[in-house]
Amino acid sequence: MRPMVEITDLHKSFGRVEVLRGINIAVPPGSVTSILGPSGSGKSTMLRCINHLEKPTAGAIQVDGEYVGYTRNGDTLSEISGRALARQRAGIGMVFQRFDLYAHMTAIENIIEGPIRVLGKSRTSAMEEARELLDRVGLGDRARAYPAQLSGGQQQRVAIARALAMKPKVMLFDEPTSALDPELVGEVLSVMKEVANSGITMLVVTHEVAFAREVSNEAIFMADGVVVERGDPDEVLRKPNHPRTRDFLSRVL
Ligand SMILES: Nc1ncnc2c1ncn2[C@@H]1O[C@H](COP(=O)(O)OP(=O)(O)O)[C@@H](O)[C@H]1O
Ligand SMILES: [Mg+2]
Repeated sequence: MRPMVEITDLHKSFGRVEVLRGINIAVPPGSVTSILGPSGSGKSTMLRCINHLEKPTAGAIQVDGEYVGYTRNGDTLSEISGRALARQRAGIGMVFQRFDLYAHMTAIENIIEGPIRVLGKSRTSAMEEARELLDRVGLGDRARAYPAQLSGGQQQRVAIARALAMKPKVMLFDEPTSALDPELVGEVLSVMKEVANSGITMLVVTHEVAFAREVSNEAIFMADGVVVERGDPDEVLRKPNHPRTRDFLSRVL
């Protein structure tokens, strides 16, 4: 089966600092991959490369068989237009650590903005789908609330609904619960669990080891810009082989 996300020998440098040093990952359709690793190991940079928020220095990323940000002509890759990139990005949802909703828009306006502007949906059908999504994330009664009137957990659930509204093939989560008060983490994880069960391919950077073990099909441990260890989440997170993984787990558990 063709991978939904395929990362081939990905390198990324900022100036002279090489942050990603040859990453190879293939993610099957419908699977959940958890990515763990110490701060500064390149996890966010890798996710940002997947939707081309960062341009790889070398290597390739394909989502559902298409090069992200490029089109292939024989042996050469050429950059695609901004419009084509926006269309590609629509298929790759991203949820960040900091709830990045538009502050001046209500929850439902945040959700319908992309479908109307990027997908060309009518306001009526976008609203209808947004209401269903708000119900799905347990916020059917908060459609008219502004982000500042919502808790961090509620804002993050709106952010997930907003990403889902684009009907993405892939959802990327970058430490979606790290900025939340502890009592709000569970409600976001349970929405993510439901999204995982719906069959969307997910890559999740997280320190939530229990979530990674329960929900993901594969766990990847990164350090210093490389994949140090990967495999069955129960194996990697219970009986890690690599000292870096053991050391990291002993500190987060
Ligand atoms: N835009 C940038 N410019 C320069 N350095 C960056 C930039 N983004 C990330 N880095 C550096 O790349 C390294 C990896 O960062 P990051 O991908 O955020 O790691 P992680 O998400 O695993 O904590 C860090 O040393 C960070 O300072
Ligand atoms: Mg990060």
